[in-house]
Amino acid sequence: GIDPNFDSNREKVGEEELDELRSSASQTEFGDGVDVWGPVEPPEKLGIHGTHVAVDYDLCVADGACLENCPVDVFTWVETPDHPESERKVEPTREDQCIDCMLCVDICPVDAIDVDGS
Ligand code: SF4
Ligand code: F3S
Repeated sequence: GIDPNFDSNREKVGEEELDELRSSASQTEFGDGVDVWGPVEPPEKLGIHGTHVAVDYDLCVADGACLENCPVDVFTWVETPDHPESERKVEPTREDQCIDCMLCVDICPVDAIDVDGS
């Protein structure tokens, strides 16, 4: 599953890598306003997206249960063509709205989400 200590074990990617991510995705909002933690080598390696609500893009298999069940609609789909696990992922676009219910953490079948509710 996702490393809960990603914010000390990984580094935030810079603007150049973010531009690369955006051009490899088919939606322009990819990465906008959401921190991305590397390493990032699109299209195969996409890193962890978000900080309070963090999604490991390299684990996400696009199950969708998080997006469908989040009570405050934190997530939006982004297309990730040619990623080995799945061709779309959930971006925690509205992570600032999270109420720390932990539903997404519990429901994800591949343990791809970490919410820092402590
Ligand atoms: Fe949504 Fe709850 Fe997950 Fe926060 S912890 S993103 S409110 S499902
Ligand atoms: Fe991905 Fe898990 Fe959500 S696989 S779409 S983070 S339920």
